[in-house]
Amino acid sequence: MIVRGRALVGNRWLREVDILVDEQGRIGGIGVAGSLKGEVLDYSRPGLVILPGLIDVHVHMRDLEYSYKEDFLSGTAAAAAGGYVVVCDMPNTKPPTNTPRALEMKLRAAGGKAIVDYGLYYGVPPALEGLDDAVGRIVGFKVYPEDLAGRREVVGQLLGYAASRGLPVVFHPEDPSLFTKGPCRPGEERPPEAEASAIRLVGRMLDAAGGARVHITHVSSLAGLGEALALKRRWGRLVTIDVTPHHMLLDNSLYRLNPAMYKVYPPLRERLDCLGLCLAVRDGQVDIVATDHAPHAAEEKAGSYEEALPGYSSLEVAASILLTMVANGLLSLARLVELCSQAPARLIGLEGVLGVIHEGAYASLTVVDLRREWKVDPSAFYSKAKHCPYEGWRLRGRPVATIVRGRVVYDEAGVDLGLRGWGRNVRSLA
Ligand code: NCD
Ligand code: ZN
Repeated sequence: MIVRGRALVGNRWLREVDILVDEQGRIGGIGVAGSLKGEVLDYSRPGLVILPGLIDVHVHMRDLEYSYKEDFLSGTAAAAAGGYVVVCDMPNTKPPTNTPRALEMKLRAAGGKAIVDYGLYYGVPPALEGLDDAVGRIVGFKVYPEDLAGRREVVGQLLGYAASRGLPVVFHPEDPSLFTKGPCRPGEERPPEAEASAIRLVGRMLDAAGGARVHITHVSSLAGLGEALALKRRWGRLVTIDVTPHHMLLDNSLYRLNPAMYKVYPPLRERLDCLGLCLAVRDGQVDIVATDHAPHAAEEKAGSYEEALPGYSSLEVAASILLTMVANGLLSLARLVELCSQAPARLIGLEGVLGVIHEGAYASLTVVDLRREWKVDPSAFYSKAKHCPYEGWRLRGRPVATIVRGRVVYDEAGVDLGLRGWGRNVRSLA
């Protein structure tokens, strides 16, 4: 098969090309458009661009006992519709993915349902024994605020262990000892100082471990960003960070509109925090944009702020939000690809295998229409979670086809739900 169109080849140059896909779903060769023979998938219409498939390093696919919120079928369908070829699932499920048995359950759930490829994170385990069986099947470890508060010693050991295996440890950086006690306004229960403090703590752990691969996820505030950038200066490529679209574009004034709906952790911040994150994303100080797609049932996003659960359904809008920034000159397309394809592939150990269009890499591709204008309607989501803070937003730019290892899993006709099970654990790809 041949995929034809304007593609970001080598992640730098837009060229009219034929991308030859071989039997293994890899790119067998790239030639000028029209030069290769075979069945052609033609995306050479004006406005369309073929990008290395987008990779989301922070999503919650839920499943198992949280299947009412999302499962690997609905979640990866949402990913496909949003242009993602890989999603990396967090371990805060029921049961939590931090024992060999729970990992087995998660793998089984994902295996039969996933439409796009997936990676799995492992939570902080009860004990380090038994991890050796897990390491070949996960993309990294995830540390939550409660682990930082209560299990610091194990987290320290885990850093050392992960370093010895070359796996990254992803930190949700909020220090519970600095959470506000007593009544306060929405969002203020988890102040920016808690984020900054947690990142300093990660720095001390890195010093104690003598270095490790650490990824700081959803940096949300200027205070946190400052600490994260200091860590990056000290440790170079060992430390990476991501920012979410919602922390770039939504500020805490929105809590006045609908506190339950906008509830998210870390919370929305001041407008200047948003601006600082946008500039850092554009300027290359931030490595990755991740969605933190965190689906919940409708009832769980209603009621009072205190009762509601935190998180948004984001997979089906995130790429379009970034493309809208591109359309408005706030971000370059090449930078978008670094943030959403190339750097994520590197984080999960698939540099050169995914996240780039070149010979030998998998033909996992996202075709976007840079000119498509549309209005966000969460009721049309594939995700089970129809709550979305961007409802009604008018966006410019949208994924119109998602190709996973040579298979079209999503195009104008919708997601091909018959392809459930096509998605593979990315650890089997390299
Ligand atoms: C996360 C979730 O729903 O799993 N929610 C969120 O707002 N990011 C949990 C969490 O990160 O605390
Ligand atoms: Zn999360």
